[in-house]
Amino acid sequence: MVRHFRRDDDITPAEQQQIIDLAITMKADPYAHKPLAGPKSVALVFDKPSTRTRVSFSVGVADLGGNPLIIQAGESQLGAKESIADTARVLERMVAAIVWRTFAQSDIDEMAAHSTVPVINSLSDDFHPCQLLADLMTIREHKGRLAGLTVAFVGDGSSNMANSYLVACAIAGINVRIATPVNYQPLVEAHETATRIAGETGGSVLVTDAVADALVDADVVVTDTWISMGQESEKEKRVADFAGYGVTTELLAAAKDDAIFLHCLPAYRGHEVDAEVIDGPQSVVWDAAENRLHAQKALMHFLLTAS
Ligand code: CP
Ligand code: NVA
Repeated sequence: MVRHFRRDDDITPAEQQQIIDLAITMKADPYAHKPLAGPKSVALVFDKPSTRTRVSFSVGVADLGGNPLIIQAGESQLGAKESIADTARVLERMVAAIVWRTFAQSDIDEMAAHSTVPVINSLSDDFHPCQLLADLMTIREHKGRLAGLTVAFVGDGSSNMANSYLVACAIAGINVRIATPVNYQPLVEAHETATRIAGETGGSVLVTDAVADALVDADVVVTDTWISMGQESEKEKRVADFAGYGVTTELLAAAKDDAIFLHCLPAYRGHEVDAEVIDGPQSVVWDAAENRLHAQKALMHFLLTAS
């Protein structure tokens, strides 16, 4: 049975740990694993802009012995003239995996339903699971463990990052807290799924509009842009609505003294995070950006070799 990575809970807690372990091994020895030797090609389809995802998947596919095939929005028949199902039927005949950044999560799900090769969600409106593998790997590197830690996401609780934080942290046995205005709640389904999984892994879930409550004993403080791709027309309203939810030095000081700061990037200094925080000593954002490469290589290795 082909395995896909459409969202964070497409892998079990044991598999998440296995992928992060492999990512750490691959970081130390980047060219030892060649599941794409041939070279086999991987389609990297982008309906939204990208720096990190495009570069990390391109380099990662090459590191694994394969050939990255980038298809930008508007360059293929997908969407305009050809259905998702027919696109999957064509791509699967020629590539070993399909990596897709797009808008609707249901489109990723549809591609996966029709593909006999792994489909990887490289960001949808609802989830950004590849980023979470890199973020969890970075937290492991800096804190030495995941289960039992407390992670506070402060900002746009309705973002793909917040939904993925809820679910992926619950899988890792982390106490995950989302501080967000009442009108920017995570997906109900993601909140419920995370709560159910946390009950099995020993983690916990809290969604609150009280920033101070989320930060108590936090080992990790995270945020994301207030204006995700596709929301540019809402910028003025969103900047006003998120007042008080920007990660300042005062806000970070309410977490543990040795808390680390994460942001998936791109960042907007002066909005969701102050320059003093993202460019300060507690920030590990560049480690996380690099870890996209290692985590996704481990993910592709896992999906390509899973029976
Ligand atoms: N964090 C992230 O996905 O960055 P890009 O949009 O540059 O790929
Ligand atoms: N929430 C952001 C993440 C960017 C990597 C967006 O979707 O634009």
